[in-house]
Amino acid sequence: MDQFEIVGGNRLRGAVQISGAKNAALPIMAAAILTEGETVLHNVPDLADVSHMQKLLPRLGVKVSREESGDLRLRVEDESNCHAEYELVNKMRASVCVMGPLLARRRKAQVAMPGGCAIGDRPINLHIAALQALGADFDLINGDVCLRAKRLTGKELFLGGPFGSSVTATANVLMAATLAEGQTVIESAACEPEVVDLAEFLSACGAQIRGHGTPRIVVDGVEELHGAEHTVIPDRIEAGTFMIAAAITNGDLNLNGARVDDMLAVVDRLRLIGVNVERTETGVNVTSTRRLEPVEITTQPYPGFPTDLQAQIMALLCIADGNSTITEKVFPDRFLHVGELGRMGAHLRKEGPTVTIQGVKRLVGAPVMASDLRASAALILAGLVAKGMTRIDRIYHIDRGYERIEEKLAGVGAEIRRVSG
Ligand code: EPZ
Repeated sequence: MDQFEIVGGNRLRGAVQISGAKNAALPIMAAAILTEGETVLHNVPDLADVSHMQKLLPRLGVKVSREESGDLRLRVEDESNCHAEYELVNKMRASVCVMGPLLARRRKAQVAMPGGCAIGDRPINLHIAALQALGADFDLINGDVCLRAKRLTGKELFLGGPFGSSVTATANVLMAATLAEGQTVIESAACEPEVVDLAEFLSACGAQIRGHGTPRIVVDGVEELHGAEHTVIPDRIEAGTFMIAAAITNGDLNLNGARVDDMLAVVDRLRLIGVNVERTETGVNVTSTRRLEPVEITTQPYPGFPTDLQAQIMALLCIADGNSTITEKVFPDRFLHVGELGRMGAHLRKEGPTVTIQGVKRLVGAPVMASDLRASAALILAGLVAKGMTRIDRIYHIDRGYERIEEKLAGVGAEIRRVSG
């Protein structure tokens, strides 16, 4: 199993190119199931999760090819198989995004119910209830969600759950509604930029969608959708991770391609901490004062502070001057990184969904273990500033969501290398 070895202490300086957004690319790839003809996607990141979707879609009759240029070409060639099997879905929860398209286009979907994961329970009750509201019959057979519908019928539906809106439930229902008969109103829809990007792609395919980016999306069903050409938006979570890398090393980074407008809650907290974030022609420049202020952070659905940057900003606050708190309102159990940061000398105390961070002068390198995608990123960030060597095990987690992260970091001065464990 590969590991990262990081020797801390270098200030990062230079430019990093931000890749396409994983959480936009995955549902957009699944949306190809809805279309007739060819789709060409630009700026699709080269990630393990994308490769995984490239394996799943052909099982569902969608031809997917990665061009020399990096573009993805997708075309539906066979609509006979509608079963997304457990061994594929269990490895990547985003596979659940094929459910809405399969149901809407092929009138049936059989998708393994995803299990839990390191960040907590991952139910899909909201997905299922909403698709039932559009007219689907639902059965749970041997752990597979089985949905059937002669034709979906547009409805007014409320998609909010106990933790607010749901990103992939919104994606699933939005995709299904594009081919339903009549109008669908999705109330309490997710407003994430990745959902907006999916809606833009679907509109380019001929869907009639308005209100995306707000909690109320209105979809007027159409008879069919054609393929389209689309450029995936930049990854705001990768950009936020590198902003924090600049801050934690007291560096100076230009993040080319970063879209600051997608990250205003993150910029707000970083500026409070003492991090300078300036827009540039090509993205954003990030520097920081040596003294970092403590802050309070609560994660929320977009436009609130993203849960996907909670672990990373915790690493930064470990070396702030004073006590900070982070409350996790989206995935209350998303704290497996707390124990590992503690091994590096961080003073953290968890009480339910809130962690109190008592800033320390210095972190110290240690062997640590990655548990999930964003926790791994937090351990890398801590390693960049810790005294001595940090060895991170199970870095297959990081490869799921960050494109060549060690090359990008080494390119701006980090002492980091991948070793086969
Ligand atoms: C998406 O996951 C992202 N993944 C996650 O990013 C991200 O953390 C999450 O949204 C929140 O922003 C993709 O887009 C592929 P949710 P998703 O449904 O859609 C509860 C990463 O690191 N809920 O918005 O699965 C759920 O338990 C990944 O890139 C229900 O109760 O998240 C959670 O508490 C990790 N019932 C809350 O809603 C449901 O049917 C938000 O989850 C669905 C969700």
